[in-house]
Amino acid sequence: MHNGLTAIILAAGKSTRMNSAKPKVLHELCGKPLISYVLDLCLSLKVHHIIVVTGWGKEKILDYIQTNYRGKNIDVVIQEKMLGTADAILSARPKIKKEDTDLLILYGDQPLFGLGAARKLVNEYFKKNAACVLFTADLENPRGYGRIIRGSKGEILGIREDKNLNRAQESIKEVNAGSCIFKKEKLFGVINRIKSGNKKHEYYLTDAVKLLRHEGENVFSVKSKNELEVLGVNSRFDLIQMERILRKRLIEKFIAQGVTVKSPETTFINHGAKIGRDTVINPFVYIDSNVKIGKNCTIGPFSHIRGESEIKDNVIVGSFGELNRTSVGSNSRIKHFSYLGDAEIGRNVNIGAGTVTANYDGKSKHKTCIKDGAFIGSDTVLVAPLIVGKHAITGAGCVVPKCKNVPDGAVVAGVPARPLRK
Ligand code: UD1
Ligand code: MG
Repeated sequence: MHNGLTAIILAAGKSTRMNSAKPKVLHELCGKPLISYVLDLCLSLKVHHIIVVTGWGKEKILDYIQTNYRGKNIDVVIQEKMLGTADAILSARPKIKKEDTDLLILYGDQPLFGLGAARKLVNEYFKKNAACVLFTADLENPRGYGRIIRGSKGEILGIREDKNLNRAQESIKEVNAGSCIFKKEKLFGVINRIKSGNKKHEYYLTDAVKLLRHEGENVFSVKSKNELEVLGVNSRFDLIQMERILRKRLIEKFIAQGVTVKSPETTFINHGAKIGRDTVINPFVYIDSNVKIGKNCTIGPFSHIRGESEIKDNVIVGSFGELNRTSVGSNSRIKHFSYLGDAEIGRNVNIGAGTVTANYDGKSKHKTCIKDGAFIGSDTVLVAPLIVGKHAITGAGCVVPKCKNVPDGAVVAGVPARPLRK
């Protein structure tokens, strides 16, 4: 987007209130870790370099980024001591390159700060050629946030942290939402003058605003129109509340795209799932990230579609079905309680009630392949690895042992299953 635009993501917080052995930013929101929302935002913005500041739990964050963002220009730095947000920026300094001229600063625990708002912030910054642009919001309850202090002409004079407000300032509703963008040379021109003489004894990045104004620099703001963009996750309660909001949004998006979700309150669809038009999702269905469901399908009630499962068009997965890393061809039917794991199911297949693919032998997972037109009788157990041929039939209650592939058109029955006729 802009050549020198670099993002610094602050994620060093210990997040005591999460009461967790896992760093806060790795906790999932609708199936996706918090940090991933912020990283994906940076990639969508096409920033050319990302620096993530970690502290507590740094190995886990590094490991997550190396596994999931391979090949991206992301540096992970460590802030040795949590001395405040200005100190966090200083700990990123060794990784900031000469060509990183503009620093977009984001918080790792604000996943709902979206692309639209980020673009506005960045555009305003370049348009005004400002030293700094802040993202602000008017909040009914501004407690806990830094407040924007403005002069008589509305110009920004500084930010005052909640703990240091005087009586008059307490009534200010405009808050510093967190995200901001600075000219690197201007920020680093004042950052060493930031002092920790406040109640928390922290070096506040927000103090840079006042120092820049003293230098005669201009600081502008972009105001949020949506309170959600400002929400940060501090506790598990926050996370659950945010999940509720985001889940509703995701489901409304699907409904607008032509998916019927009968009971949005009891349906869970994770971030990244794809669902085709005219598909009906019945109550109490859970659909994981990376699941793809085609057009005109019926899912549920009470079904769980997991892993990387892919369901083609006109498929029915009825009640109490669990699909895990399983593909299903078009027009197939899985109407009543089944577990299908690591299975590849062809077209026009009928899976009888109670069918189970036994995919795990205690050591490894194995595949089951059920070819086009096969008819799997009720209560069949298919022990993987196994292939059931085209138009083959298994009798009710049979157990097909591993590697005893059922040829095309064959009929097998019994325990263990034996051929009845070709
Ligand atoms: C900060 C802002 C405040 C704003 C609010 C919005 C400062 C001083 N204050 O306050 O004006 O209204 O966010 O949510 O910036 N972090 C580090 N290293 C540190 C300290 C913090 O990486 O040494 C990270 C945290 O993990 C978090 C972010 O910086 O992601 C913000 O820190 P936090 O302690 O939550 O600041 P607030 O008190 O919320
Ligand atoms: Mg915070």
